[in-house]
Amino acid sequence: CGIIGHVGDGDALETLLTGLENLEYRGYDSAGIAVQNGSGIAVQKRSGKVAELKDAVTETSLEGDVGIGHTRWSTHGPPTDENAHPHTDCTTDVAVVHNGIIENYAELKSWLRERGHEFTSDTDTEVIPHLIQYHLDQGTDDETAFRRAIDELEGSYAVAVMFSGAHVLYAARKGSPLVVGIEDDEFFLASDVPAFLEYTDSVVYLEDGDVVVVDEDGVEFTDLDGASITREPETVDWNPEQAGKGGYDHFMLKEIHEQPTSLSQAIEGRIDPADGHLSLDGFEPDTFESVEDVQLVACGTSYHAALYGSLALNRAGVPATALLANEYSVTSPPVSEDTLVIAVSQSGETADTLNALRQADERGADTLTVTNVVGSTAARVADDSLFIRAGPEIGVAATKTFSSQAVMVTLLAQRIADDARGDPPADLESLLPDLSRMPDEIDTLLETSDADAIAREYIDSQAYFFIGRGLGFPVALEGALKFKEITYEHAEGFASGELKHGPLALVTPETPVFAIFTGEEDEKTLKNAEETQTRGAPVIAICPDDHRAVEVADDHLEIPETDSNLAGLHANVQLQLVSYYAADLLGRPIDKPRNLAKSVTVE
Ligand code: G6P
Repeated sequence: CGIIGHVGDGDALETLLTGLENLEYRGYDSAGIAVQNGSGIAVQKRSGKVAELKDAVTETSLEGDVGIGHTRWSTHGPPTDENAHPHTDCTTDVAVVHNGIIENYAELKSWLRERGHEFTSDTDTEVIPHLIQYHLDQGTDDETAFRRAIDELEGSYAVAVMFSGAHVLYAARKGSPLVVGIEDDEFFLASDVPAFLEYTDSVVYLEDGDVVVVDEDGVEFTDLDGASITREPETVDWNPEQAGKGGYDHFMLKEIHEQPTSLSQAIEGRIDPADGHLSLDGFEPDTFESVEDVQLVACGTSYHAALYGSLALNRAGVPATALLANEYSVTSPPVSEDTLVIAVSQSGETADTLNALRQADERGADTLTVTNVVGSTAARVADDSLFIRAGPEIGVAATKTFSSQAVMVTLLAQRIADDARGDPPADLESLLPDLSRMPDEIDTLLETSDADAIAREYIDSQAYFFIGRGLGFPVALEGALKFKEITYEHAEGFASGELKHGPLALVTPETPVFAIFTGEEDEKTLKNAEETQTRGAPVIAICPDDHRAVEVADDHLEIPETDSNLAGLHANVQLQLVSYYAADLLGRPIDKPRNLAKSVTVE
């Protein structure tokens, strides 16, 4: 999602619409603005493109010098006009734009409903203006009402708020980015610098817990308790193209680096800390009670996440198979009314996956989709949906959506096993703490990775092999797929134990072998890796620092010590970086590899 806000002498409308257009690269499914028009707050919002919003705004001759705008990527409720931001209270005295997830929105909503508040959308955001209105009704001033409301929010937010008749914007940040732009006596708020880059290059990056009050006289920075803090502006020197990529050279690299955030969003509010029970958006307790077996259908990278999920399900005691969606009609595996068919699809629009989903439905199975797009066809066709909340992904090669899909299917596996067998799998105890550490650990991994040096060292090789066992196997397949997609070099992934049954014939000193160690029979994987070394192949071990494989291998990419359900996903981030840097050295068009499309809507 994207936020823009404007306070100053100039016309807010043009700034807001330009800001929304500048944020379009992030992908969105609806957009809206609210301005002070002299007699109160005027709101225009709709699902669809910013261009359509612009037409509507022009027709209604909206004007004003203070305003807020938003592009929405749906996470709660489909992309409709009602669900688009800004959201207001019952009397349109307060308008709010918000990025993030309010974890306690359901409780707040029912508490407010009991006090007569009526809601018009399915979003979590709408509780914020109502909460503010509640505090205003208690007689507080605007700023106090805003502060009290954000104090009551659990979860993450970047939020900007406007009150009817006041030429002031209030904003706060916790867990979602928010920046302030300053140009003389004109001020901007945005989720991302490119939103206002043509107006100013002077930017203050807010930190978690910061609250700002912006009016024509300036910006006041405070903490949550209202104590004054100092935030110095920085000058950004990005060109517009770089700006769209958040300063990274490619969307793929940006999206790789977004994984700490996208993973936090995937798990946020979904695990009950008391009992580890997984609360999956609107799924009643025991939803999966009658599930006897699971089939996961998907294509490409999503198939690797599906395979990951099938292994997690089997480990948790639930029979499961992953099938390529384009093979589903010819394979025609038996289904019963107790079979759950899960379609894993980043876009929710892949024709092969939709076909498999429809067939499963016709044959009487229950269906569920794990997807990143709330209003997608898969979400509409399947009986139920689970959204991975990774935010838009622009690079054709899927990165952050893969890790979020894999985490979601891992959690789903635990929940299905819990419901169907009546007790949570033993794995959960070590999985949950390691899962909550994962975003920070991936942040560190991204900062310290040697992937660029490894890519450089092996850039002249003939072919690249990736091996793994257990949950390391889908990661090996994904590592190879990513590598071939964006470098155009020959890359293949194998189950480590399969090497000796054929692929070993391909191994030479010109074929580096990336060996993934997930803590599942690592000794065997190490033996397989050594067999390739005997044939002259250099081995790059992906494992924790103190692992025995480090001594044996020629090179090492470090992952943290973690639960074996997750180790492969850390390894996957290292492999994403290796592919990225190799493709960059070879001068490939990384974000748009030849012959490939982000979403394939034909069979
Ligand atoms: C295309 C993309 C792949 C993607 C696959 C499945 O082939 O290039 O990156 O993995 O479609 O897409 P989906 O949207 O269903 O995950």
